[in-house]
Amino acid sequence: MSAAGEEATLKVFESDFYISEMTKVWDEGQKWSEWVKELIKRFNLGRSVLDVPCGVGRVSYFLSKEGFNVLGVDISDRMISLARKNVPDVSFLKGDMRKLGDIVGGQKFDVVLNLFNSLGYYSEEEDLQILSSLRQVTKGVAVINLDNRDYVLFNLPDVKYAYIPPYMVIDNSRFDPMTSRVQVIRKYVDGKGNEVGSIEYSQRFYSLHEMVNMVKKAGFEVLGVFSGYSWKNFEIVDPEMTLILSPST
Ligand SMILES: C[S@@+](CC[C@H](N)C(=O)[O-])C[C@H]1O[C@@H](n2cnc3c(N)ncnc32)[C@H](O)[C@@H]1O
Repeated sequence: MSAAGEEATLKVFESDFYISEMTKVWDEGQKWSEWVKELIKRFNLGRSVLDVPCGVGRVSYFLSKEGFNVLGVDISDRMISLARKNVPDVSFLKGDMRKLGDIVGGQKFDVVLNLFNSLGYYSEEEDLQILSSLRQVTKGVAVINLDNRDYVLFNLPDVKYAYIPPYMVIDNSRFDPMTSRVQVIRKYVDGKGNEVGSIEYSQRFYSLHEMVNMVKKAGFEVLGVFSGYSWKNFEIVDPEMTLILSPST
C-alpha cells in the first residue's frame, strides 16, 4: 500500500468516531479472555500473550485481570496511549505488525492474538507479511479472527444502519468481486439528523481456503478453525472464522 493509503487508513483508526465504536465493544474483550483461557487449557500452553493489534486494550485488559503476562502492540499513537490509560498494568508498544521481530526484540509468545478482523486493510502481499511476522514471534499458537468473505458476500447490505450512541452510523458498502475488497463509506449522524463526520476505507475479505493457503506460506499449520469466540467448528455460513495456528516444523 502507498504511504498516502497507509496514512488514510490510520486516520480512520484514529478518528474519534472509530475510537468511540471500539470503546462500545469493550465488554467483548472478556469473552475473548475466557476463550483464550480455554485455549491455553486445551493446548497445554504457557501464559505469555502478545495482543496485536491491541487497539484500545479491551482484550489485554481482561487477559491481565486473569493473570496472563500480556504485551500489546499497535501502530497508532492514539490507540497506544488509550490502551496505556485503560490498562495501566500491561506494557504496550507502538509498532507495525508487519515487523514484529524488530519490535519485540527476539521474544516469542505462547499465544499470539490477531483479533477483530485486523487483516485486509493493506495489500494481499502485506497481509502475507503480517502473517509471517506473527509466525516469527509465535512459540505456541497464533489466533487469527476474521470476518468470513463467503458470509459477507451473501449478507452484506448495500446500506446498513446501526445506532451506536450518540450517533446513527450509516455504512454504504460496495463489494468488488474482482478483488474481494469492500469499499465502505461510513457516515455518522447526530440526534438532530445532521451528518457530523464520515470515514472511508477498503478492506480485503478472505475465504477460509485463501487463509489456509496464506498461513501455510507464512510457515504455520492449521490446528483448528472455530466460529468467532465459540468452540463450534467453523462452517461456511458463519460470519466469523477463528483460526488456531502453530508454527510448522
Ligand atoms: C479492528 S481494530 C482491532 C483492535 C483489537 N484487536 C481489538 O479487538 O480491539 C484494528 C487495529 O489495527 C491497528 N493497526 C492497523 N495497522 C496496523 C499495523 N500495521 N500494525 C499494528 N497495528 C495496526 C489499528 O490502529 C487498530 O487499532
